[in-house]
Amino acid sequence: MTATPPDGQAGAAGADMLRVEHIAKRFGPVTALVDVNMGVARGEVLGLLGDNGAGKSTLLKILCGFHPPDAGRIFLEGTEIHLRSVDHARSLGIDVVYQDLALINQLSVYHNMFLNRESVRGPLLSNRSMRRQARKRLDDMGIRLESIEVPVGSLSGGQRQAIAVARSVYSATKVLLLDEPLAAMGAKEAALILELIRDIKRRGDVSIIIVAHNYGQVLEICDRVILLQHGEITLDKRSKDTSVQELNDIVIAEYRRALEERERTA
Ligand SMILES: Nc1ncnc2c1ncn2[C@@H]1O[C@H](COP(=O)(O)OP(=O)(O)O)[C@@H](O)[C@H]1O
Ligand SMILES: [Mg+2]
Repeated sequence: MTATPPDGQAGAAGADMLRVEHIAKRFGPVTALVDVNMGVARGEVLGLLGDNGAGKSTLLKILCGFHPPDAGRIFLEGTEIHLRSVDHARSLGIDVVYQDLALINQLSVYHNMFLNRESVRGPLLSNRSMRRQARKRLDDMGIRLESIEVPVGSLSGGQRQAIAVARSVYSATKVLLLDEPLAAMGAKEAALILELIRDIKRRGDVSIIIVAHNYGQVLEICDRVILLQHGEITLDKRSKDTSVQELNDIVIAEYRRALEERERTA
C-alpha cells in the first residue's frame, strides 16, 4: 500500500506515478465519488474492483481528463496537474481504454490505430507507413488479423478490444487506464490482453489501473487491489495479502446488507 503523504509536505506525492487526493464527483443528485485518496506507483499494476455503480468508470474518467472532478487534486510524478481534456491527459502520457471503446467502426484497423495519436503519428506519416507500423505493432503484440484494411466494425468484439488496448499501450508512456478490458471476450482473446498487460509490466515504467470483475485474473495480474463501494475506497491491499475468497466475501456481505436495507425500508 502506498501511504498518504502528510498534509503540507510538498513533493511527498512524488513516490507515486499518479496520486489523487480527496476526489469527489456528483452527477446531479447522484454521488459517484465521495472522498477518494489513492496512488499508483511507477510500474505498478493496480486492480480497481467494485459493484456496478460503485464509481469505477467515473474515477477512470477523471484520471483520463474526460470528467473534471468537483473537488480534489491530481498529481503526476509529484506535480499537481489540472486535466483539461482526454487529449491533454494523453499528451502527459496518460491513456485510457474505455468500457465503451472509442473506435470508429467505419474506419480501417490501421486508421483506428493512429486515431487521435498525433504525437505517435507525426505530421507527415503517410498511409503506407501507418499501415506498416500498425501491422508491426499488432504482430509484435501477437494480435493476428487477416487484414488491417478492413473496417473495425467488421471485427469481433474481442478483436476490437485488442486493437483499442494495443493502441493505448503505445501512447501511454506513464499511466494506462483500462476499464473492463476483458469484458465480452473469449478465453483466447482475454489471454492475449493479459499477455499485453504482462508485457507492459515487464517494461516496468508504465503504471496500470485496470477495472475487472474476475477476481482470479485480477489477483494474478495485479500487484495491488482497491475496492470501491458507493464511491469510497473500502479496501486497499497487496494482491498477495488477499484472496478470491476474501474479495467475494466482502462483495456478498455488501449485497446482503443492500437486501436487508431494502426489506427494512419496504
Ligand atoms: N454521465 C453520468 N450522468 C449521470 N450519472 C452518472 C454518469 N456517469 C455515471 N453516473 C452514475 O454515477 C454512479 C457511478 O457510475 P460508474 O462510475 O459508471 O460506476 P461503475 O463503473 O463502478 O459501474 C452510478 O450511479 C451512475 O449511474
Ligand atoms: Mg463502469
